[in-house]
Amino acid sequence: MNQRPQPDAIRAEPLRQDPHRPQYHFLPSSNWMNDPNGLIQWKGEYHLFYQHNPNGAFHADMHWGHAVSKDLVHWEHLPIALAPTPGGPDKGGVYSGCAVDNNGVPTLIYTGVFPEVQCLAVGIDDLVSWKKRADPVIAAPPPDLDLFGFRDPCVFRDGGSWYMALGAGIKRVGGAVLLYKSPDLHEWEYIGPLLVDDSGLPNKGWECPAPFPLGDKWVLIVSVTPRANVDYFIGTFDGRRFHPEVHRRLDYGRYFYAPQTFLDDQGRRVLIGWIWEGRSEQKDIEAGWSGIQSVPRVLTLRPGGYLGVEPARELQQLRRTYYYGEDLSLATGVPYQVDIQSNQLEILLAWQPDAAAEIGLILAQSPQGEEQTKIVFNCERGQLCVDRRLSNAVGDVDFDTQIAPLTLGEGEPLKLHVFFDHSVIEIFANDRLCLTSRIYPTRDDSLRVSFFAHGGDTRLRTAEIWELQSIW
Ligand code: FRU
Repeated sequence: MNQRPQPDAIRAEPLRQDPHRPQYHFLPSSNWMNDPNGLIQWKGEYHLFYQHNPNGAFHADMHWGHAVSKDLVHWEHLPIALAPTPGGPDKGGVYSGCAVDNNGVPTLIYTGVFPEVQCLAVGIDDLVSWKKRADPVIAAPPPDLDLFGFRDPCVFRDGGSWYMALGAGIKRVGGAVLLYKSPDLHEWEYIGPLLVDDSGLPNKGWECPAPFPLGDKWVLIVSVTPRANVDYFIGTFDGRRFHPEVHRRLDYGRYFYAPQTFLDDQGRRVLIGWIWEGRSEQKDIEAGWSGIQSVPRVLTLRPGGYLGVEPARELQQLRRTYYYGEDLSLATGVPYQVDIQSNQLEILLAWQPDAAAEIGLILAQSPQGEEQTKIVFNCERGQLCVDRRLSNAVGDVDFDTQIAPLTLGEGEPLKLHVFFDHSVIEIFANDRLCLTSRIYPTRDDSLRVSFFAHGGDTRLRTAEIWELQSIW
């Protein structure tokens, strides 16, 4: 890896001091990033491409940034992989797409704009240099469809053929994924809609479709546009259509979007998504950066028709200072202060519901509590919330309370797994629910952690906290 060319400028230094800049999540050295693109493991290394504006912390002039990792956790920045070609089909921007291994030839398939067409580029073995095909591989949408949106190819192989799923919106109908088929990645035949949204949202489209087999099922992930939530379907795929059996939300946080997945050499289905900021565009520009990638999340099928989502175990190598508590008594309304102060944490809590109505965790708390962020599980309501009303003392960033439904089964303990990295919080609850949040504390002493219960005394079965080191 050392022989690889370095990016033309390492612009990171001044930004490193920014207290809101995550330290163990991937982000470019500066400027704008949105969707992950072309996730692939190639010769043992993980490649992450991403939507990137190299000239500002706002969405414009889309390029593909590029990074590589040996362990899914530590990333090395590589030169920009794709830039718009003047006069070419991607002259208006290199939008989202995927990477595939075409018999040993790395190949990128992506959307060029404007208008939206599907393009292809082939690489040499190190995935750093790419040669674009001059004309699009799909130059226009199917003529009989009245579409808004025709982008974000996700190419996969099944039964000896290549398939491409494309995100779309059908006017007066709503979100759709269109399916194409090809013998060679160059000639594409339109098969029909893989799935059309039937939930009665004619103004919503689907972006960044991600279909993949998992166990004995197929999963289809879609991002609902205008930028809203990410949903998943579990069902079957018959080579033409996806037949959904389950439809759920992938993340309840509103900041998590456009995820992609890939299969790694351990057979794991790994998912990474873009997490956007919870502040104004002006603040992004002043900060000089915007957007991070989530921690890698490993997907499984779970009983009850759930997608199981767990942080990749490679993250454990970042664990440093350790706190462990067992059978901790929590008196109702009396916070239990933990002897750890940090904004780079991993937290694991297990609680068996009993007398208390509510149990939770306070993060990023200042000594007198002026600033604090609460993660609250309300057992009676079956809700997990992130209460951000006091997360930022100035109040000029997002502060609404985020709510996700979480009902525990009979005798099932609550299991919260939380990743807190300066301005981002990723919560995994009972391996089946994700909630991603953003906070921007203003005080440099907003570092405290405590537990609390309400509506009855209780005991926390176990609490583990690690301070995590930076990946840079
Ligand atoms: C999703 C998205 C994609 C598009 C890309 C452009 O966030 O809007 O549909 O390809 O971002 O940056």
